[in-house]
Amino acid sequence: MIKIQVITLFPEMFDGVLNSSMMWKAQEKQAVEFRLINLRDFGLGLRKRVDDTPYGGGDGMLLMAEPLFSAINHAKERCPNAKVVLMTPRGVRWVQSEAQKWADSNDDYIFVCGRYEGYDERILTLVDMQVSVGDYVLTGGELPAMTIIDSVVRLIPGVLGGETSASIESFSDGETLEFPQYTRPEVFKGLEVPKVLLTGNHAEIAKWRKSQSLKISSSDK
Ligand code: ADE
Repeated sequence: MIKIQVITLFPEMFDGVLNSSMMWKAQEKQAVEFRLINLRDFGLGLRKRVDDTPYGGGDGMLLMAEPLFSAINHAKERCPNAKVVLMTPRGVRWVQSEAQKWADSNDDYIFVCGRYEGYDERILTLVDMQVSVGDYVLTGGELPAMTIIDSVVRLIPGVLGGETSASIESFSDGETLEFPQYTRPEVFKGLEVPKVLLTGNHAEIAKWRKSQSLKISSSDK
């Protein structure tokens, strides 16, 4: 039985997908167990805050490191060896051969669904894998997580009724990659925000971000 936990600010989005059709049958057959974890439950303060503005300036809000750390650690208490998978357009492109590998592996998974303009880069220290469903940007990681879950669960032996075909797909390269971002606090669990982002020097910040983007694009994912 594969145990799949999903960390999201919108658990209700999963209701229809996980409780219908093949995903429902897979649970009935005890091939998979789902658990939805509401990131809001790990928010800070009375208002359960989960987001903040980016250091160095820029539009929008980022998910803060602390609520995400707490939620991931909570999920790990249930499945200490689970692989932590971050949904991000920056991740490794999802392909059928990978879905097959996961379905055959018997590993457990913790899916982390991002929202807003991104997340504090320091959460990557807890992430085993970054996965993208394609070269387009969605409002959050929920739809990608559902896509990946669906593609894996239907391949678990016995779920489709046996006749699974493992046709291997691949996609060409060329996605848009982002620079690392950070929000409060400046130091979290000993991990520091890059100093350049705290200088207020917009030219330097832009230069740094550009170099980081290039580094990410040119590195092997
Ligand atoms: N979050 C936003 N867009 C995404 C994508 N294309 N794949 C995975 N997660 C995402």
